[in-house]
Amino acid sequence: MNLNQENEVISFLLRMSNVVALSAVAVLFLLGLVMFLEITGAKISLPVLTEVNLPSSAPVSPAPESEEAMWQAPQLASLPATPEGDQIRYGRELVAHTAQYLGPEGSVLQIANGMNCQNCHLDAGTKPFGNNYALVAATYPKFRARSGTEEDQVKRVSDCFERSLNGTAPEPGSNEMQAMVAYINWVGQNVAAGESPKGAGLVEIAYLDRAASPVQGKALYVQKCQVCHGDQGQGLKPEGSSEYVYPPLWGADSYNDGAGLYRVSTFARYVKANMPLGATYGNPMLTDEEAWDLAAFVNSMPRPKKDISQDWPDISKKPMDHPFGPYTDQFSEEQHKYGPFKPILAASKK
Ligand code: HEC
Ligand code: HEC
Repeated sequence: MNLNQENEVISFLLRMSNVVALSAVAVLFLLGLVMFLEITGAKISLPVLTEVNLPSSAPVSPAPESEEAMWQAPQLASLPATPEGDQIRYGRELVAHTAQYLGPEGSVLQIANGMNCQNCHLDAGTKPFGNNYALVAATYPKFRARSGTEEDQVKRVSDCFERSLNGTAPEPGSNEMQAMVAYINWVGQNVAAGESPKGAGLVEIAYLDRAASPVQGKALYVQKCQVCHGDQGQGLKPEGSSEYVYPPLWGADSYNDGAGLYRVSTFARYVKANMPLGATYGNPMLTDEEAWDLAAFVNSMPRPKKDISQDWPDISKKPMDHPFGPYTDQFSEEQHKYGPFKPILAASKK
């Protein structure tokens, strides 16, 4: 290598290091620019996002929240391959597909109306705010004012057979009753006595200042429910099937007038977080007002009657929306059925 060549190499290396340094400066500058744009960009787009997410003027409560933070049932897969595990699995099957075993064409007994427990206790009683069984294991046996007695799980399950399923209950000692109770206790096994985890049972909703309206409820029903539950509230049971795809909401095969859903507040709280199908607590599809009006409409339609003359032996304990007198207050059966409920509640606190 001669001197000239050496000089050329050196100047080449010098030029290269200049290029490297310049590129580093350029890259740093670009990075800075990108970060600057990111930050200002975010600042500009934030208010726009909030506007888009603003709730409609109608009161939709409660505020959407993560559903992960809520009560979760134990994993079915955690059940052992033991006789106890088998009993619990059978109990779950009975809750999910009651009609196949105990409905009008049931394979074990024919004692119920063709609905499944799961129609109202969603995901076999495990869905957050889906009328689940979270609290049963921890709270029963307990005193219930409806019967005026201490009730255990068997009595409570029997109640839903006689009212919601408009039928008769399996014998307390039967495999079926024992399996359902074992399953229900297993679902609530992770809830301690006195604890009420978020997501247990049904959601709370706000009272209206007016009576719930069957007329407005009917219009909503046609628009949002009829496609599945039918123009006669009859639901859909495919030919040759023992089970409903869409359960009935009124008529001969629906729950009777002694059932929990016959109270408009219970019905409204159920549909608010669960209907139309696909709705959840975090993603409700009805306003509170719509839920009340739908409850009023569906519960104004004909359904089986139950002799409830022995219910509420202490009439002062009747819930504000128990639609059958006599009452200890002066409000009519009509107002106890549809509201407005605020005056009834205020009077009961005097
Ligand atoms: C038509 C709807 C419906 C059907 C079908 C139904 N239930 Fe219920 N069930 C209810 C309602 C409503 C409640 C009361 C919820 C409340 O007031 O918080 C309830 C309450 C219960 C409870 C007490 C829950 C608690 O936390 O105190 C148990 C246990 C129960 N049902 C079991 C069953 C079983 C088992 C079946 C099937 C054999 C069944 N239910 C079918 C609507 C139904
Ligand atoms: C896309 C179909 C669909 C629509 C729309 C729908 N539901 Fe349901 N509904 C169902 C199904 C399916 C079940 C039973 C769920 C299960 O067994 O897992 C059910 C259960 C119910 C129940 C409890 C069981 C019973 O039969 O009493 C009520 C009450 C109810 N729906 C009310 C409504 C109301 C009110 C609307 C309109 C706001 C509505 N549903 C819209 C499919 C639907």
